[in-house]
Amino acid sequence: MSLSVKRVETKPYEGQKPGTSGLRKAVKVFQQPNYTENFIQAILNSIHPLPGSVLVVGGDGRYFGKEAVDIIIKIAAANGVAKLIVGQNGILSTPAVSTLIRKYQVTGGIVLTASHNPGGPDNDFGIKFNSSNGGPASDSVTEKIYEITKTISFYNIVPDLNVDVSKLGETNVQIGGKPFTVQVIDSVADYLALMKEIFDFAKIKSLIQGSSSRPPFKLLINSMHGVTGPYVEHIFIKELGAAKDNTVNTVPLPDFGGHHPDPNLTYAADLVTAMKNGDYDFGAAFDGDGDRNMVLGKKAFFVTPSDSLAVLANNLNCIPYFKKTGVKGFARSMPTAAAVDRVAAAQKKEIFETPTGWKYFGNLMDAGRLSICGEESFGTGSDHIREKDGIWAVLAWLSVIAELGESVEQILLKHWKTFGRNYFTRYDYENCESAPCNEMMKKLEEKVTSPSFVGQSLSSQGKTFVVKKGDNFEYVDPVDKSVAKNQGIRVLFEDGSRLIYRLSGTGSSGATVRLYAESYEPASGSITVEASVALQPLVQVALDLSELQKFTKRDKPTVIT
Ligand code: G6P
Ligand code: ZN
Repeated sequence: MSLSVKRVETKPYEGQKPGTSGLRKAVKVFQQPNYTENFIQAILNSIHPLPGSVLVVGGDGRYFGKEAVDIIIKIAAANGVAKLIVGQNGILSTPAVSTLIRKYQVTGGIVLTASHNPGGPDNDFGIKFNSSNGGPASDSVTEKIYEITKTISFYNIVPDLNVDVSKLGETNVQIGGKPFTVQVIDSVADYLALMKEIFDFAKIKSLIQGSSSRPPFKLLINSMHGVTGPYVEHIFIKELGAAKDNTVNTVPLPDFGGHHPDPNLTYAADLVTAMKNGDYDFGAAFDGDGDRNMVLGKKAFFVTPSDSLAVLANNLNCIPYFKKTGVKGFARSMPTAAAVDRVAAAQKKEIFETPTGWKYFGNLMDAGRLSICGEESFGTGSDHIREKDGIWAVLAWLSVIAELGESVEQILLKHWKTFGRNYFTRYDYENCESAPCNEMMKKLEEKVTSPSFVGQSLSSQGKTFVVKKGDNFEYVDPVDKSVAKNQGIRVLFEDGSRLIYRLSGTGSSGATVRLYAESYEPASGSITVEASVALQPLVQVALDLSELQKFTKRDKPTVIT
C-alpha cells in the first residue's frame, strides 16, 4: 500500500507549554481544530534526526486517547518516522512506556495521560514526550518544543492511513517510497518480564498464598479504573496467585468511573474504608497512568510516601535486582520529608535533593549515582526505568515483608525506633484563582529572603520555631550543571523543621497551592503521634506567615495527605 502525505497549513496556539509532566489541558482544548496536530508536529520537529526514528506510543486509556493515537500514527508516518510501537488499544502504563523505550533502545516515546487528573469529555487529557533514556524529556527539550509551537505554520499528515490498534501485529506501508511500520504489542508482556527479572516472584507468591508456617497475606489492590488494571490482574492474580477479589476497579475506564484517579487518603478513600476493619494485611492504590502508589498496612495504617522511600532504601537487600547492581545513591524531591537522608547517612551513600518532577532523577541514574528515589506526591521508583513505578513499589514492599516476616506497621515502628521519625503533611488548595496565589508567592518570597528573616521566632500553639534560612529553592544538576530556579519557597528552622510552599505544575487551569510541613522527632522522642497532631503548630505558623487563607479565599485545604 502506498499513501501520500498532505501538508496542512496551521496557526500557533498560545500556551502549549509542557508543565511538570507534559502538556496537560482540558479535553476540549485538545479537541480544537489542529491543536493536538500542532503539538505532535512540534514534538517531532524537536527530534534530531527524525527520519528513521522509532517511538513508543501509549497511554492510560482516558477519554480522547484513541483519537490522539490515531493522530500520532498519521503525523508520524508523514514525517519520516520509521516505526511506532503502540500498546494494544493504545494502552500502556507510564512505567511500561519507559520499559519499552529502554528495552528496544528506541528514540523516545509519547505518553497519552494526564496522570492523576480526572478524565472524560469535561476533564483533562495530556501528552508527554519521553527521551531515549525512557524518562520525561528534560527542560531544554520541552522548552524547544514550546518554542516550536509558537511559530508552527504547517504539519504533515497521511490522512488515509488507518491502523487498527486493537489487533496485535505489524502494519507495514510505504509513504512516499519509504517504509513505515506500526507494531501493536501486548501492553503487559515486556513490563511483566522486567518485573520478573527484578523480583523473586516465587517468594512473593508464597507470601501471598501462605505456607505451613504462615497464613496467606491478604492484599487489596485498587486500580482506580486506571491503566494498571490489566497489569494488576496479570501480575498479582495470574503470576502471584492472589485471589480475584484481592483486586478492585481493574477495568480501565475513559473517565475513571467519574473519580479522581489519585492514590491518596482523600481520593482513594474507598480503599481506606475497605481496609479499616482489618480484613486485609496490605492495601495499595495506583493513579491513572500507574506511576503513583499509596501503600497501607492492616487496618489502613498509612505509610507516608517519604517513609515508604526510606523503608525501601533501608531494605534493598531484600530485592534480587539490587543484589546484582549494588546500591548506588538515594534521592528525593525537595518537598519530600528527609527520612531517606538518615538511611543514606547510615549507609554512607550519596543523597540528592532535587526539584519536584521525576525528570530530575534521570541524569543521576544515567550517571550511575542513583538506585532508588521518591517523592512525597506518592511516587517511588528505581533505576530499573526512568519513571516512577506504582506496581514496582508494591512488589518492593511485598519483597521486604516476605523477607522480614513483619507487618507494615511493625516495619515502620522499627524504622522510626532506629532512625527517628520525620513527620510530614501536605495541604493542597486546588483550583484557586491564579493572580492572588502568584501575589502570595511573591510576597512570601520577599519576606523569607529579606535579611532580617533569619533568626526570627515564629510561634503558634505554645511552640516556637526559630528561622535558620529562607529561600526559593534552586537546583544545579550535578551531572550536566543545568540550573532549575524558582522550585519552591522554603523556610528552614533551627530544630530541623521545614515549611515549603509551591504552586503545582500539573494542573490544567487556575492555581493549586501546596503547603508542605515537616518536623523531626528523634528515635527516643514521641514517634507514634498522629502526624496531623504533631504538625499542628507548624502548620499554623505556615498559614500565618503566608496569609494563605486570605489569598486563596479558602479556610481549609481541598486535600490533606
Ligand atoms: C507528577 C510528576 C511528579 C511530581 C508531581 C508534582 O506526578 O510525575 O514527579 O512530583 O507531578 O506535581 P505538582 O502538581 O506538585 O507540580
Ligand atoms: Zn501518574
